Order: sequence, then C-alpha cells, then structure tokens
Amino acid sequence: MTASAFPLQQCEDCGARLGELDPASACPTCGGLLELVHAPRHDAAELIALFAERRGAAVGIDVSGVWRYRELVLPSVDGDAIVSHPEGNTPLLTRRAVSAWAGVEGLLIKHEGHNPTGSFKDRGMTVAVTQARRTSASAVACASTGNTSASLAAYAAHAELPALVFVPAGNVALGKIAQTIAYGARTLIVRGNFDDCLALAREASTSLGIQLLNSVNPFRLEGQKTIVLELLEQLGWNAPDWIVLPAGNLGNTSAFGKALREARAIGLISRMPRLAAIQASGAAPFARGFATGFHDKVRVEPHTIATAIRIGAPASWNRAVRAIRDTNGIVADVSDGEILEAKAVIDAAGVGCEPASAASVAGVAKLRRDGVIAASDRVVAVLTGHLLKDPGAVVAYHQETEPPPARANRPIEIEPRLSEVERVLRRQ
Ligand code: F0G
Repeated sequence: MTASAFPLQQCEDCGARLGELDPASACPTCGGLLELVHAPRHDAAELIALFAERRGAAVGIDVSGVWRYRELVLPSVDGDAIVSHPEGNTPLLTRRAVSAWAGVEGLLIKHEGHNPTGSFKDRGMTVAVTQARRTSASAVACASTGNTSASLAAYAAHAELPALVFVPAGNVALGKIAQTIAYGARTLIVRGNFDDCLALAREASTSLGIQLLNSVNPFRLEGQKTIVLELLEQLGWNAPDWIVLPAGNLGNTSAFGKALREARAIGLISRMPRLAAIQASGAAPFARGFATGFHDKVRVEPHTIATAIRIGAPASWNRAVRAIRDTNGIVADVSDGEILEAKAVIDAAGVGCEPASAASVAGVAKLRRDGVIAASDRVVAVLTGHLLKDPGAVVAYHQETEPPPARANRPIEIEPRLSEVERVLRRQ
C-alpha cells in the first residue's frame, strides 16, 4: 500500500480492505464491521504543536473540536466538504459536591452535553454526514434511542440531505424526540426496542440504498475519538488513570479504545489510561460478558430508566472487547437507583446531565467503594448528554415519586401573597 492509499477501511473480522470512499456499511466479504486505518505523516511533537496552534482559531474548520484533530480523524478531507456546526470544545469541569459524593478528590467531568444538539453524538455525526456527502449519498438513516436521531436530523438538515430515523415506541426522552421532529427528519416510531430498530434500519438501508449512520459506521467512531483526544490535550497530554463512560451500543467504548491505542502508538501519551464502561443493571449484556472473560456474546431483554442505553444486543461488541482488553479496562453495572442519585447530585451541582450520562459518575462511586479506583486516582468521567434531553426524568424524580427521594426538590404552589411566602420559608 502506498501512503496515499490511506486512510482505508478494513474489516475487523477478516481483514478485507476497502477504499476510503467505499460506502459499504459492512464488510462485503464476511459482513464484519469496518474500521478506518490511518498512516499518520506527523510525529507526536508535530501533532501537539499543530493542535495547539489551531485551538485559538476564530473562523473555519479549526474552530471545531473534531476537525482540529483531522490528521487523526479524516486527513484526506477537503475543508469545503466538511459539514460542521461546529461541535466539540466541551469543558472539563470539577465540582466539589460531585467529587465528594463519588469519593474521588479531583474527579474531572468531561461534559459532552455542551455539544450543539446536547450530546456527544455530534462529534461522530459531523464526520459521518461529511463522508455521506463525499460519497454522494442520496439519504441517511439511523436507529436510535434518541440522541443519535437528534444529531443525525440536525446534521442532515445542514447538509440538505433527507434523513430517516427509527426510534423505539414509548422509550425516547421528550427532548430528543422533539429535536428529531423539529430538525425535519422523517421519524418512524417502531413498536419494538432499540435492537429491533437497528435490525430494521440495517435492512432498510441495504434495500433502499440509504446510508446507515449508526455507530457501526466507522466514520462515526473517528469523530467520537476526539472526546478522548480533546480531554488528553486539556490535560497537557498527561493521561489520567481512568476514563469512565456510560455504555449501550458500545460505539463510544470502541471509539475511546481506538483513540487511546492510536494516541499511545504515535506517542501522544506515554501510558494507557484504564477504561471503565458502565452499564445500567437492567441492560448490562457487556458487563455480564466481562464477568465471564467475554466468553460469550451476551444478549438481554433491556429495561432501565436510562432510555439512552436501553440496549440488549450491542452492535460494536467485538471492538469494545478489544478496547477493554487493550486498556486493561473493566465493565461494571449500576442500578437505576444509583443512576438517579448520581444524576441528582450532578444536577444540584449546577452541571446537569441526562440519566444515562449519570451512569458514569455512579460507576466511579461504585468502583471507589469496591476499592478498584483509589481516592487519589486521576479520573475523568464523561457526561454524554444534557439535562434538558430528558425533562420527564427530572419531573418524575423531584415531583412525582412517592415517598420523595432524599434529594427531591419539591416545588410548592402558593397563593400570590407575601404571607404565603413567609409561611413556606418558616417551614424550612
Ligand atoms: N450516553 C448517551 C446519552 C447516549 O445517548 C448513548 C447512546 C450512550 C451513552 C451510549 O453510547 O451506544 O456508543 O455505547 N445512544 C445511542 C442513540 C444508542 O441512539 O442515541 P454507545
């Protein structure tokens, strides 16, 4: 292969190679998932200098927290072809109350809810929609628990491409369905769960010639790698001890593993952080697989309040296994009760997130209690989505649950009189 043939797509199962512009959604030989293989032309010092130089950009693609890292994402792309909001540039926060609750002193929170549509999906979607346009797609599609569909709808609208989304009936949070409809995607509400939606989206995209932009699409993962690249850059390229993230369909876990492998191989970091992928107990096939050394691909009927990760048959299983193995990582699960408590703490610290995102901080607290994470470890927990994605979860927890949970903040209805205000304040 000549250097100009890179990046190329390679089947993770049989090793078959496809050109970068081949629009296949899976390996034509064996049906395996495809990944992008890069041949970086810069060394670590050159990349670090390039990335730093672009950080202050006020205009153009360098403003994007995805495309700023394009040498490691999609180096061959022409700037004019890029469909960018822009996205990325999310903060790395510390909040005393969250650190104290989790039991980890300097807990860092990478808040991906600060992306344009309110979730980390925008980082993958800018790359996937850019690639869809480069390969002359006539339409794009996805199955989703809500965030991918919101993001796809927004980026497809920007690219002026028709979008088709499949979402599970009754299990998509209000903010996400509102975004998907408002941004103009053709929205199909499927009487089934996410796994049914993905099977249908795969079938429909093959037979109708529509490009599938779920995280089985390798270009999605290239964009999502920049969550890790950006947080490493924010830490001065000093790897933390742990990176903790919620896990559902396992695209993000796979992207994090690939980012770390590549960053380590190039020399951007000198040691590997450990990944901790956290699932909801009622939708934890990957955690169950981990407990048995990934002997079998586990499948479950999923149930959890964290609808974003209500997934029983994760599509990126094999590559997520690789991510956990390569980083000496672990997989754990947390109950809905632990997720809701973590969310209440994160929300009350003024940070806020949706339920699935809080699984990462709940996971940190659990791994701390179990002695896996030390109080002095440098830990980054990723919050994947914004609080306003799921207003129903907030109302249910604070206003509707009986008896009120310990952290419930009940609003009080009063008559418009000062005496009423005084009466309420006296009671506290
Ligand atoms: N957190 C949030 C807020 C999500 O929306 C998702 C996935 C995850 C975590 C898990 O990431 O699937 O890569 O392991 N949401 C997908 C969707 C399934 O359709 O929006 P994953």
